[in-house]
Amino acid sequence: MRIDIITVVPDILTSPFEVSILKRAIEKGLVEIHLHNLRDYVTDNYKQIDDYQFGGGAGMVMMIEPIDKCIANLKSQRDYDDVIYMTPDGARFDQKTANAISLKENLIILCGHYKGVDQRVRDHFITKEISIGDYVLSGGELAAAIVCDAVIRLIPGVLGNETSALTDSFQDDLLAPPVYTRPADYKGWKVPEVLTSGNFPKIETWREDQSYERTKKLRPDLLGEE
Ligand code: ADE
Repeated sequence: MRIDIITVVPDILTSPFEVSILKRAIEKGLVEIHLHNLRDYVTDNYKQIDDYQFGGGAGMVMMIEPIDKCIANLKSQRDYDDVIYMTPDGARFDQKTANAISLKENLIILCGHYKGVDQRVRDHFITKEISIGDYVLSGGELAAAIVCDAVIRLIPGVLGNETSALTDSFQDDLLAPPVYTRPADYKGWKVPEVLTSGNFPKIETWREDQSYERTKKLRPDLLGEE
């Protein structure tokens, strides 16, 4: 998978890809991340990427021309499955969307800033608009990092244990069961006996029950209850 991220603040997006699982995914050649500074696509000396909005009103709007140039440059080199725009008014990001995106080959992610982008960018270039939640961030970069993290860990070979992503919370619309590790008794707080019993069918049933109970208690909406 290749992800091209268009941003006015590339610095925000360096460290997430320089550590841990995402770093290893890149080193293994399973994903390529390319950051593009929108200012590199501006021809004027002031490197202006935003302007006042027509009709008046507070807040600057990201201009169409540098975005067009950047996207056109990328599209001239390869085909893209989606051009994603990170915005609080996009469709709410969830595990299903992450699963679907993880099957794509080439993606462009555009990070919004200020009051957002000129509507014509959305009308003519964007194929998918994603929000990570009902709150407003200063820009789409952190949201893009979250989407990349959730997607990249699903690519086969990224996680050491293939089954690990499949047993994550939300993969079957249920929260994951509780997990424990050594010591089995810490200050009298004991690990549920079934987990140390060695009876794997029983452990599996216990985990399924716990997943269901946890979901019912913490996220009844996932079960269609309120
Ligand atoms: N940009 C600003 N806020 C955002 C959000 N909640 N999700 C995605 N992109 C954003």
